[in-house]
Amino acid sequence: MNIILLGPPGAGKGTQANLLVEHRGMRQLSTGDMLRAAVKAETPVGLQAKAVMERGELVSDEIVSALIDAELSAMGKGTGAIFDGYPRTEAQAVSLDELLAKHGRSLKHVVELGVDEDALVERIVGRFTCANCGEGYHDSFKQTKVAGTCDKCGSSEFKRRPDDNEETVRTRMAEYRAKTAPILPYYEARGIVSRVDGMAAIDDVTAAIENILRG
Ligand code: AP5
Ligand code: MG
Repeated sequence: MNIILLGPPGAGKGTQANLLVEHRGMRQLSTGDMLRAAVKAETPVGLQAKAVMERGELVSDEIVSALIDAELSAMGKGTGAIFDGYPRTEAQAVSLDELLAKHGRSLKHVVELGVDEDALVERIVGRFTCANCGEGYHDSFKQTKVAGTCDKCGSSEFKRRPDDNEETVRTRMAEYRAKTAPILPYYEARGIVSRVDGMAAIDDVTAAIENILRG
């Protein structure tokens, strides 16, 4: 099964994708994570993307679609893909259809996480992740069980994203409204969009998504 998690910055796409990976053995394909890895490794793509991401703008469609193509090529055919943060423009939605056809896959669901924009800033500025294993946390909503220690791997090193400040978040939201939200009708026309209340507690959001995937 291949699905898209769609929603503005901080909607919970990454949080829910991680849980689906754990529960269902699917694979998370996050273009944001891929780009951050490229920036860290200082690859040509990373060097091009770094400043764009720091401004909260979108990286070019060609770059991100090439990243997705490479991941799909490397994946086993039987493993379902969770597209997290991709597609983000109409051109990317068209590319994804081409890539799915090329790799013998089809799209089952587009799950839209509906959220209140004001709450998103708080979610994003409070977010941090384990520097070792990447597990995600939040200053108020998802703290580590033991202060300063990752629940998953025990590391005491954590990091915050350079684009997780209020000013950049506002730009990221404007980009979402202008370029990403308008792709919903593309999928609505196929009857595969379901909406979930992304303001609910993390576990309740997961349960709602599971319901859709089972249906
Ligand atoms: P990307 O990494 O995709 O960032 P984003 O879309 O802005 O989304 P986030 O990762 O910030 O939010 P999320 O929805 O994953 O929320 P999370 O689960 O972490 O993209 C970054 C940049 O890369 C872009 O700005 C762009 O420059 C570039 N880029 C990436 N893909 C691209 C593409 N396809 N095309 C062009 N450019 C691209 O949750 C947030 C916090 O809230 C966490 O701390 C979490 O614990 C907490 N939380 C989650 N759910 C809940 C809940 N239900 N209740 C309370 N707290 C919650
Ligand atoms: Mg994310």
